[in-house]
Amino acid sequence: MIKQISNFLSTEELKLAQEYWLIKENFLNKCLQCPGSKSIYADILSETLLKIKTPIIENAIGEKLLPTYSFSRMYYQGGSLDKHSDRPSCEVSITLNILADKDWEIWFHELNEDNKININTKPFSFKTTPGDALVYEGCKYEHWREPYEGNKCMQVFLHYVRANGRFKAFAMDGRKFFGQTKSQALESIWNKK
Ligand SMILES: [Fe+2]
Repeated sequence: MIKQISNFLSTEELKLAQEYWLIKENFLNKCLQCPGSKSIYADILSETLLKIKTPIIENAIGEKLLPTYSFSRMYYQGGSLDKHSDRPSCEVSITLNILADKDWEIWFHELNEDNKININTKPFSFKTTPGDALVYEGCKYEHWREPYEGNKCMQVFLHYVRANGRFKAFAMDGRKFFGQTKSQALESIWNKK
């Protein structure tokens, strides 16, 4: 299941998010998954969206969901996303277009149960404009982006599991609260806080 949600952010929310990321851009980390890009796990604004936008996504897919984590990435010219499929915490995901100075397709190719490409299907792509989101099942599709031809593109990823699904134990991605990083979550386990 892949579905486009237009106007996922209102005009005011989008304006705020764009200004926020143009400031926050200077405080992002080198992205380990996408060389040349910058990213952050559990940014507070993205975690807020992860929390408050849950009903919109539930409505789009017709199922109850549990938030897992957010991830936010700024891509630059030439940046790309290698072909991959996602881990269980990303059973249902949103890629939310915050800002982009050029259209950029995200590609999908369906996987079989054994995680191999379904050769009976063809890859297909979507384009979104800022404020729009795409909801997709990243464990069921290999997905990727070819090198970006614009200057800058910010995408926020909101990840969920089905509340009654096989991955429900991955709720909050093993964290205790919104905004907590993975290392903080692990530390709290070790220190029994
Ligand atoms: Fe992914």
